[in-house]
Amino acid sequence: MAGYEAWLAYRPIADADRRAKIVAWTEAISADEDDLCIRTAAAELAQGLTRLTGRTPSCRTQAPGSASSTAAGSAASISAAASASAGRSVRLGTFEGSADVRESFSEAERASVAEEGFRIRADERSLVIAGTTGKGVLYGAFHFLRLVQTGTPLDGLDVLHNPANGLRMIDQWDNIDGSIERGYAGRSIFYRDNEITEDMTRIRDYARLLASVGLNAIAINNVNVHRLETMFLTEAYLPRIARIADEFRAFGVRLFLSVNFAAPFEIGGLPTADPLDEGVQAWWRATARAVYDGIPDFGGFLVKADSEFRPGPFTYGRDHADGANMLADALAPHGGIVIWRCFVYNCKQDWRDRKTDRARAAYDHFVPLDGRFRDNVMLQIKNGPMDFQVREPVSPLFGAIPDTNVAIEFQVTQEYTGQQRHLCYLVPQWKEALDFDTHARGEGSEVKRIADGSLFDRKLGGFAAVSNIGDDANWTGHPLAQANLYGYGRLAWDTDLSSEAIAEEWVKLTYGSDERVVETIRGMLMDSWPIYESYNAPLGIGWMVKPNHHFGPDVDGYEYSMWGTYHFADNRGIGVDRTVRSGTGYAGQYRQPNAGRFESLADTPDELVLFFHHVPYAHVLHSGKTVIQHIYDAHFEGVEGAEALLAKWDSLAGLIGEADHAAARSRLQEQIRHAEEWRDVINTYFLRKSGITDLHNRTIY
Ligand code: GCU
Repeated sequence: MAGYEAWLAYRPIADADRRAKIVAWTEAISADEDDLCIRTAAAELAQGLTRLTGRTPSCRTQAPGSASSTAAGSAASISAAASASAGRSVRLGTFEGSADVRESFSEAERASVAEEGFRIRADERSLVIAGTTGKGVLYGAFHFLRLVQTGTPLDGLDVLHNPANGLRMIDQWDNIDGSIERGYAGRSIFYRDNEITEDMTRIRDYARLLASVGLNAIAINNVNVHRLETMFLTEAYLPRIARIADEFRAFGVRLFLSVNFAAPFEIGGLPTADPLDEGVQAWWRATARAVYDGIPDFGGFLVKADSEFRPGPFTYGRDHADGANMLADALAPHGGIVIWRCFVYNCKQDWRDRKTDRARAAYDHFVPLDGRFRDNVMLQIKNGPMDFQVREPVSPLFGAIPDTNVAIEFQVTQEYTGQQRHLCYLVPQWKEALDFDTHARGEGSEVKRIADGSLFDRKLGGFAAVSNIGDDANWTGHPLAQANLYGYGRLAWDTDLSSEAIAEEWVKLTYGSDERVVETIRGMLMDSWPIYESYNAPLGIGWMVKPNHHFGPDVDGYEYSMWGTYHFADNRGIGVDRTVRSGTGYAGQYRQPNAGRFESLADTPDELVLFFHHVPYAHVLHSGKTVIQHIYDAHFEGVEGAEALLAKWDSLAGLIGEADHAAARSRLQEQIRHAEEWRDVINTYFLRKSGITDLHNRTIY
């Protein structure tokens, strides 16, 4: 049931034999270190195993503040002592803190576990979940529960997992009035009526969900920081923010704040926010100190500057390195970082100007600054050069700034991909971006190796993504949209997992292991992005959405189309010429051979042809169809695909909880109606525009 408990519902294991085996392995849980995350891990294990097997393991953990592992085992240090059981136990701990755990592994084995990684090993006596840090142990505990639920045999278990990315972050675009920018699942769980919430229940449960998929950082307020959120940096708000940080800390998640670059001016009483002004620098230093006084493990600042009317260093004739470094210097003494967004473009482009190209903007702004950012700055780059469209090429900025730390930014919330009314499983889209070979260091220079920092040997690297949750009972509105949050976390941890494997895991944890259920829902998830794409904006061109809220078809609707239409469709053709030869030159921002491939109409893949080229409607695609025929057919196929999703879901009636089935069903029905609207609006527009009516295969409606 994709309800409130999401993938942590731990439904009882039906098979009695299997249950007995698990019970035999998990009669007791012991953790003899005074570590917050290890205590959480023990509690999670106890809770999960109890629900899965119906039997509560005896649990021995270290009380907070009690003596460390050297005293482990002494009666006084045991908070919830239970008699030692005859069966085997699960031992949790770090190599450094627990002699027992340390001795279960060779030196080389211990060295193979990264800071937040873990090892799980079953031997004759016990099952050990070991980490270098308490966080690693916590991830190991959640992973163990996953293995139990997905049917992995425990005998002889021996696994090692290290996270691919250091930073695995989720961004809330929540505002203090309780609204969520681009939120489609209710109101904020953090704020209500211009106050930070006092009720920690949902925040704690959210922290659990995040930790269970390996996420380790969160920014709790919108990147567009308005007046009251700017005040988060003051005494009026910090104690309550610290309270939220406490909840996340227990689950190994570090808290970040989005900050307003103009804060010294807007709330600090200074006449300027110039990053080179000494008064401004001192203000940020004092502010950072105050934040760390309340939140000692505070992650740092997330900044949207000089973008979509947000203030930034440009106001003072400074560049983004000046701005980011000034904040980085304020955070450095405390171990904090600055995450500086690269989403910078000219919203006011004149429609007659066909050379200025929003797609070029991030590269043009940031490449000249490569090498100038401090070590504790990361540039956060959206996966594509535009803005989370259903289809975009990869941002060419990846691979172009080798002397700068970067993070890749995805959008789990479905702003342009159906707003959680439509089913659109986004993991395959993200994987395409991650697997794109930039050739920055020759073949094999995939984006995932740039994001994780390994290709250029960078100190910091990682993933960030805009969250899709709100206070809806099931967190994400569409029950199946939970798969995107789950998948994001799993992929941030392990970029080599396949989309199918992630989907399958999620279905099993959420709906159980019935083969028909697993196969059907996995199939629906895997089909959903191509289906959504086929009735959306065609062939990589993007946008075509109603203004501001970005939901529903409107070919010329996007708000900034007033200044520069985003598809240049006229009666002869469609698409944006981004070639070096005759267009905006954007294709030349890639390295070879990608630059050459996108420069050439013949070599550009169909799904991106209109992103890179302006072509006549009669242009023949690799598929053999003309552009207009493709648009026309795809929009019919998209509706058929949406209908097929509903039919598949209906075939599961009786196998899925009734309420859940009904909730997803009504969204799938709505999706069909809406796909029809997309089909009719887009097809009518282009038939009229092109004047071509001799299309094949379909009866014109
Ligand atoms: C998109 C989105 C905005 C958001 C912006 C951003 O443009 O529509 O709501 O603020 O991205 O990433 O900053």
